[in-house]
Order: sequence, then structure tokens, then C-alpha cells
Amino acid sequence: MKHFLTLRDYQQADIIEIIKLAIAIKKDYKENKERNDMHKKILGMIFEKNSTRTRVSFEAGIYQLGGNGIFLSGKEIQLSRGESIADTARVISSMVDMIMIRTFEHERLEEFAKFSHVPVINGLSDLYHPVQVIADYLTMIENGIFVKGSFDAAYKQDPRVVYVGDGNNMTHSWLLLAAIMGFEINVACPRGYMPKQEILEYAQKISTKDIRIYEDPNEAIRGCNVVVTDTWVSMGQEEQKEEKKKIFKDYCIDCAKMELADKEAIFLHCLPAYRGQEVSEEVLEGRQSRVFQEAENRLHAQKGIMVWLNKQS
Ligand code: CP
Ligand code: NVA
Repeated sequence: MKHFLTLRDYQQADIIEIIKLAIAIKKDYKENKERNDMHKKILGMIFEKNSTRTRVSFEAGIYQLGGNGIFLSGKEIQLSRGESIADTARVISSMVDMIMIRTFEHERLEEFAKFSHVPVINGLSDLYHPVQVIADYLTMIENGIFVKGSFDAAYKQDPRVVYVGDGNNMTHSWLLLAAIMGFEINVACPRGYMPKQEILEYAQKISTKDIRIYEDPNEAIRGCNVVVTDTWVSMGQEEQKEEKKKIFKDYCIDCAKMELADKEAIFLHCLPAYRGQEVSEEVLEGRQSRVFQEAENRLHAQKGIMVWLNKQS
């Protein structure tokens, strides 16, 4: 049985299989072809943090594959009254076929997975957001940006991605995606807000391509094919908001920054976005933005992940 907690547990071939499933599933969905890959399967979804995209895409996704989802608010289940993760995992996993969890400390997910009888999917932790970057990679591919030899499609050039902003769960998952899939990535963060050193070093160790760290966002963006950012204030960090707004002010992706990237570069953001902070209104709504395609791809990518996991168990 396989879980989907972090891309560290995944090989390039696994991700290609998931993406190919997602592409096929998306095509069927667009052509109104019914699929029953998850016939009568139940997905339990535990949310200890807010969500729009993750909740709707998982719930709609399992239903569209012939199964059903149960939404469990972290505040409403006994977990919030002190029932242990181990007991919760054993109980819920004895009743459903797959579980998605959005939580704070990544260790909570690992503990849950240790006691679960069914596959567990990370729907975001403080450390990683792996389901998001599968959707992001699908969006890159659909825009002709992918690694040579991985897909049967017109290949343009070796892609270089740049992530600008807070070194957070998204940065960590992008670093791992780049390392596993074999594309270059630049990361630009203010001093003190860099990604975790251990994750960076792991990604650099396994990657065949360059992974570079910058403090200067302009230097990092130059010539890149994909420009990525995320909120400066992740869930759980709300008290840092005002301080971070000052520290990150030069890291806003505006038109001047996009000018430095490749002229065909696309802009990605996992959303929700804070216009005027990490991204300007013009860029978010502009010709290079693919953020709504990216958001829609959460549905198709996660269907691919669920079907792939179901096949492994
Ligand atoms: N990108 C993302 O995970 O969005 P939600 O927080 O709305 O689920
Ligand atoms: N880094 C953000 C991503 C939200 C989808 C957070 O953790 O809040």
C-alpha cells in the first residue's frame, strides 16, 4: 500500500504515470465520458485548515469517478477534543477506502499514515503541498513546458522554473518536483525565509539539473519559462502578516518582473492570491497567467493520484 505524503517517496516514472492518468481522465471529463475507476470507493477528507480548491476538487473528483467523499472538519471530529491520531486513523481507515488530510505539522500526517489501513493523501501540511505541484506540472505540460523525453508531445526547450517569495510548503514541493522530473529551478527568498536547508540539499543531491538559491528576485527570474509565487503568509502564520509585508515588498511579481522572464513564460500561483502583495493584479489577470487553468487541474491531477493509489493497493 502506498501513501501520497511527499514527493520524496516518488520516482519520475510514478509521476509520469499519474500525469498520464490525469491527462486521460481530463480528456474523458471534457468529452462527458463517464468513468468508474473509484466505483463505490469512499474518500474521507479531514481538514484542519481552510480550503476552497482542495476540498471541492477532491469531493467532486471522487464523485465523478463513481465514489463518494465524506468531509470531516478537524474542529468537529473528536481529534480536536484530544482523541489520538493513532486511534482516529485506525477508526476512519476501517470504514473508508482512502483518506485525504490537510493539517499543520507534517508529522501528524506521518503518524496518521502509520496507523491507517488505507492510502493517505497529503492535502497540504506545513512542510509540503504535493497534490498542488502535480496539478502545476500538468499545467506546465499543457503549455508545452516539460522535460525532454517524458511525454509524446512537441518539445520546446529545457524548462527553467523560478519560485519567488516565501520558502514554504509550496517551495519545498516545487524543489522536489524539479529534482525528480529533472528541470532547473531558481528559488528567490528574503534572507531568513529560505526553504528548509535539509529539503534543499536533498533536492540538490538527487537532481540532475541546477537548483539555485537567490536573494535577488530579479536575478533569479531572468530568462525563466515558468514564474511561480505563493502567499507570503501561509495558514497558521497570520500573526506575521504585517512584518512579512514589509520584508517581502520587493518580491511582488509585477509586470516589470515578468519582463525579465522568457517572453513566452507562464505565471503560476496555487491560489488563493493576495493581489498587490505577492502578485500584481495585472500579472494575475494578464496574458501569461495560467492560474485558473492550474486551479482547474487540481480536479484532474487528484483524480489521477487517487486512481493511481487505488491501483497500488
Ligand atoms: N491551492 C490550494 O490548495 O487551495 P485551497 O487552500 O483553496 O485548497
Ligand atoms: N503556502 C500556502 C498555500 C495555500 C494553498 C499555505 O500553506 O497557506
